[in-house]
Amino acid sequence: MDKPILVAPSILNSDFLKLADTVRVINDSEADWVHMDIMDGVFVPNISIGFPIVDAVKKISIKPLDVHLMIVQPERYIQRFARSGASGITVHFEACTHLHSTIQEIKSIGCRAGVALNPHTDVGLLKPVLKDLDLVLVMTVNPGFGGQAFIENSYTKVKELREMARSINPALVIQVDGGITDNNAGRLVKVGVDCLVAGTHIFSSDDPAAAISRLKRLER
Ligand code: DX5
Ligand code: ZN
Repeated sequence: MDKPILVAPSILNSDFLKLADTVRVINDSEADWVHMDIMDGVFVPNISIGFPIVDAVKKISIKPLDVHLMIVQPERYIQRFARSGASGITVHFEACTHLHSTIQEIKSIGCRAGVALNPHTDVGLLKPVLKDLDLVLVMTVNPGFGGQAFIENSYTKVKELREMARSINPALVIQVDGGITDNNAGRLVKVGVDCLVAGTHIFSSDDPAAAISRLKRLER
């Protein structure tokens, strides 16, 4: 049987005054990971959350933390996010001067190593490091904000990446993030996605746990 689809709710656009309730909803749901978006106001035009919030979520989350670093020079903070309890750390291709060594560092501290690609970045650029990666995040919006519209060209990128990974790294997890809803998730899974990140879709729904379950039930 195929591996089930992974779902990682992004807390970015949830109500931060009710963060503990949100984490409990995720705990009690079928979600696999909690996706945490770290933005520095330099790599992306927005500033989101930092260590105090990651530490606070870690205290009550029973789901592993999936940390998405939208920051310049992410290598400076790998150890620090691992100490805050990250299970997976994803850095941006566009932000790393020495990507190979950054990937090795993430793996050496026992975290799942991910690389994210902005919408304009060709998946072929990852070929030299693909074998070393646990996860590739294909950004389906320009990073920086929740609630943006899904970019249609993402299907083609996911297909190309799945094809490339088939021979080089068949266990690679392909993740998508940005504008994911019931309208595009099914087709994304069919073209090769393993992990769906969704924020606005889940937390603007009347029943976040049900929205998570619907994504979990998608078939490849
Ligand atoms: C965008 C972030 C996403 C975002 C999720 O820069 O990486 O994780 O919060 O997007 P929506 O809200 O569109 O699901
Ligand atoms: Zn993200």
